[in-house]
Amino acid sequence: MTARRTYDFVIAANRLPVDRVVTDDGEVEWQRSPGGLVTAMESVMRGREAAWVGWSGQADEAPEPFLENDLLLVPIELTAQEVASYYEGHSNDSLWPIYHDVIVPATFRRRWAAAYEKVNRRFAQKCAEVAAPGATVWIHDYQLQLVPRMLRVLRPDVRIGWFNHIPFPPVELFAQLPMRHTILKGLLGADFLGFQRPADAENFLRACRRLLGAKTKGDVVDVPDTDRRVRAAGVPISIDAAGLSELAQTDGVQARAAEIREQLGNPKTILLGVDRLDYTKGIRHRMKAFGELLTDGRLDPADTMLVQVASPSRERVAAYRELRHQVERTVGNINGAHSPIGSTAVTYMHRSFPREEMAALYCVADVMLVTPLRDGMNLVAKEYVTCHDGPGALVLSEFTGAANELKQAFRCNPHDIEALKHTILAAIDAPEAERTKRMRALRRQVARNDVQRWASNYLDALKYAPDKPPA
Ligand code: ADP
Ligand code: G6P
Repeated sequence: MTARRTYDFVIAANRLPVDRVVTDDGEVEWQRSPGGLVTAMESVMRGREAAWVGWSGQADEAPEPFLENDLLLVPIELTAQEVASYYEGHSNDSLWPIYHDVIVPATFRRRWAAAYEKVNRRFAQKCAEVAAPGATVWIHDYQLQLVPRMLRVLRPDVRIGWFNHIPFPPVELFAQLPMRHTILKGLLGADFLGFQRPADAENFLRACRRLLGAKTKGDVVDVPDTDRRVRAAGVPISIDAAGLSELAQTDGVQARAAEIREQLGNPKTILLGVDRLDYTKGIRHRMKAFGELLTDGRLDPADTMLVQVASPSRERVAAYRELRHQVERTVGNINGAHSPIGSTAVTYMHRSFPREEMAALYCVADVMLVTPLRDGMNLVAKEYVTCHDGPGALVLSEFTGAANELKQAFRCNPHDIEALKHTILAAIDAPEAERTKRMRALRRQVARNDVQRWASNYLDALKYAPDKPPA
């Protein structure tokens, strides 16, 4: 009944907001999908009448479109081979490393690139089917960079936006991609391109000039061989600050936070890391700094502990498997060398938790360690300052988009292990009044610039781009 209906507002992302999971007893369950894109977009889409086109998270499954409240979820089928080539291959082994400073080497395969084009076309076709005349179609992230142009060919009547949740690389790195021209042309099919930071938009504009010979004026590109113009600008994403703050203040979450502290043996200082287990997140650098602080005797494992939550991610990609081994070996080494009887220096959890449990962890953490080597935004940093009411401290890598906004954090360069150790100690030892003041300012910053404001800024920019100035 719903399949034939068309929508004025359509979004497309590689994943649907929920993942299809078959439990051990053969039952099908839908669980929340991992990652910051879903965290942000789920809040934005709640209560809107719209369609969300995306993959169900399972190979060879094409469930019928289904309604979740007012949102029509439209599954896109990926074969097992496409999961390996389009998703694990081109998206996460070619593009992801190039877009994150080549922290690990990128691998290029022609058949992965071909699968990427094929799957992008499938997304474009599905968007074209569900979009009403004159609809707004909002496409998300690096997995779908060819969709804007493909969709424009199919449906010149719709307004097309694209937002990149990850960094956009400097042209010197971007130029390595065999598909570089196709990607730029693909993106230029949109009316408005949003990036996490102005610097990402500038990287894109420079790539258009250097690789396509396009003319740019300010943040607008003249699309070569057409009379079209496309605007590219920084619109930093955020979280549902009010909703999360409310959740964190509930009796249940507060009681759970107290219980966690108790279960950890009431240490003086709890340090917390929360990340997808990704090499971009700087987890090894963080562990190294913490381990050395224990070895140097500058932290005492009897009163300071690190809780590291690492959610499973992309486990069939070799670099992710290798990272998991390294992190787990390091946790074992630190605990072997330093854990007192009856407790552990590092509490490591490799699984996902409900939102309530995450909020309780943020409430209980005295110092939050966010140390990515490169990260588009990092919503975890914003979640921590929103949940933690009181004298906390945020250690934040300067290589995150969040560092552009969260100025009162304890800023660090995670590559400089000695400096990172100093920053962690400074965050632990800062006077309570200073910690309270910094956290208050951080919380206000996020509350003022929440995800609802981000979405309305983005959609205004899309509506008025590129000929009319933003309202
Ligand atoms: P990324 O999008 O790269 O994963 P972000 O920090 O922007 O990084 O977003 C991560 C999101 O995933 C946050 O909303 C965070 O709360 C959530 N998250 C991370 N780890 C877990 C976990 N183990 N269980 C539940 N949610 C998690
Ligand atoms: C980041 C990306 C998202 C992605 C998420 C989880 O947030 O920007 O596009 O969905 O990580 O990664 P996964 O590969 O599991 O979808």
